[in-house]
Amino acid sequence: MTEATQRKRIEPVQAVRHSFTLTDNETGESWELPTIHGSIGPKVIDIRKLYGQSGVFTYDPGFTSTASCSSEITYIDGDKGILLHRGYPIDQLAEKTDFMDVCYLLLHGELPSPEEKSDFDTNISQHTMLHEQLVRFYSGFVRSAHPMAIMVGVVGALSAFYHDSTNIKDPMQRMVAAHRLIAKMPTIGAYAFKYSLGQPFLYPENQLSYSENLLRLMFAVPTEDYEINPIVARALDRILILHADHEQNASTSTVRLAGSSQANPFACVAAGIASLWGPAHGGANEAVLNMLDEIGTRDRISKYLGKAQDPEDNFRLMGFGHRVYKNHDPRAKVMRVTCHEVLNELGVQDPTLELAMELERIALEDDYFVEKKLYPNVDFYSGIILRALGFPTNMFTVLFSIGRTVGWIAHWKEMLESSESKIGRPRQLYVGNEPRDFTAVAQREHTEKKSSWSWLWGGNRNSD
Ligand code: CMC
Repeated sequence: MTEATQRKRIEPVQAVRHSFTLTDNETGESWELPTIHGSIGPKVIDIRKLYGQSGVFTYDPGFTSTASCSSEITYIDGDKGILLHRGYPIDQLAEKTDFMDVCYLLLHGELPSPEEKSDFDTNISQHTMLHEQLVRFYSGFVRSAHPMAIMVGVVGALSAFYHDSTNIKDPMQRMVAAHRLIAKMPTIGAYAFKYSLGQPFLYPENQLSYSENLLRLMFAVPTEDYEINPIVARALDRILILHADHEQNASTSTVRLAGSSQANPFACVAAGIASLWGPAHGGANEAVLNMLDEIGTRDRISKYLGKAQDPEDNFRLMGFGHRVYKNHDPRAKVMRVTCHEVLNELGVQDPTLELAMELERIALEDDYFVEKKLYPNVDFYSGIILRALGFPTNMFTVLFSIGRTVGWIAHWKEMLESSESKIGRPRQLYVGNEPRDFTAVAQREHTEKKSSWSWLWGGNRNSD
């Protein structure tokens, strides 16, 4: 009996009720693949046993058709532009509640009772300080360091300080780690900013709300009283809510993958921050403002739309397009409204907003963007609001990471607590050399010798 026939017998065709049939047109063999239905959304084909049965893998670079896990946290319908956290629509959460409520919801699955909410607020506020020795890490960075570089380093370093919450098998320690991460992210992010300015670090003030505390850590100085503007605090809170989670995006998948090897939560979240930094992901909010500044005036919009459509040009319209949304990103809708509110209430006249609106209008009427279903995403308007609130451009992605931490940690927890949890280990389609014999160095063909000045253009051994 061949290996393939043995494998095929594991799941006989008749026994599977809802299934897909996969047929190898070359051999005529076929395999039944069961389908699994979620609570809402498209069903999935369960291919877990496919390789064992058939000897073939599936191929899906970029995971465009792959559900990597099951999750109860967030649901997105990209065609309809729907985003739900634990069933609640994002616009309702953004409008009606605060970031701590959403954090509790994402972590625990339900909105908290008044008592649970108050305990949660207190719990988070009690973890806001950093170990004094960890604070000394900052002085190891150059003042010009990008704050996201500091975030990756300092958050990863938390693992070295909080040993009492790195036993991932202990549910209590997992929860303490979750609280610590949510609580310390504003302190870590604000210190990255203060360090770049050469200003002293402030201690957190635990009687303030999460967003108020973040504003104070960022903008207050010890020599003056700092008055918190409630409009600014509310807008920041809403931005954090809008960034709190977004199912299996690149950074969340990174956190899950890192966590699947049973790495500690601080290291996993540091990996998530690194993934978020890229301009195709969370780095887009910074890239949008840089792009708008580069476009500068309305008359140059068409030139940049042309560049975005030119296959020979790498330029992309930042803040446009999304892997999942083929309709308006519901977060962008709330962000757009918030942007107008904030600028009006603060009396800020930002010509960048006018430019962004004009760019959005023209792009949404352009055949290229219409055909490819490219709509503004969450990052398109967030930068304009953050700038109006006083944040420097290079802090935008840091703020995204502060908001997203709860999503990362909720997914990390869910993964560890799931019976399906396994180390993430994708396979590949190998397209390299076939087996060949080793050649000793003396027998190899000679190549042109590199200039001894090669270090000047990239071979600098000192910076390796
Ligand atoms: N400008 C111009 N063309 C675009 C853009 C854009 N922003 N986005 C996608 N396209 C085109 C792309 O060239 C491709 O064309 P073709 O089919 O002719 O090759 C087609 O649309 C599909 O694009 P894709 O790159 O295959 O789509 P994807 O799902 O892999 O990428 C994306 C999604 C978000 C990375 C991409 O739309 C993009 O690079 N957008 C700009 C960066 C951005 O705003 N990122 C933030 C995303 S939302 C928040 C977050 O994740 O943090």
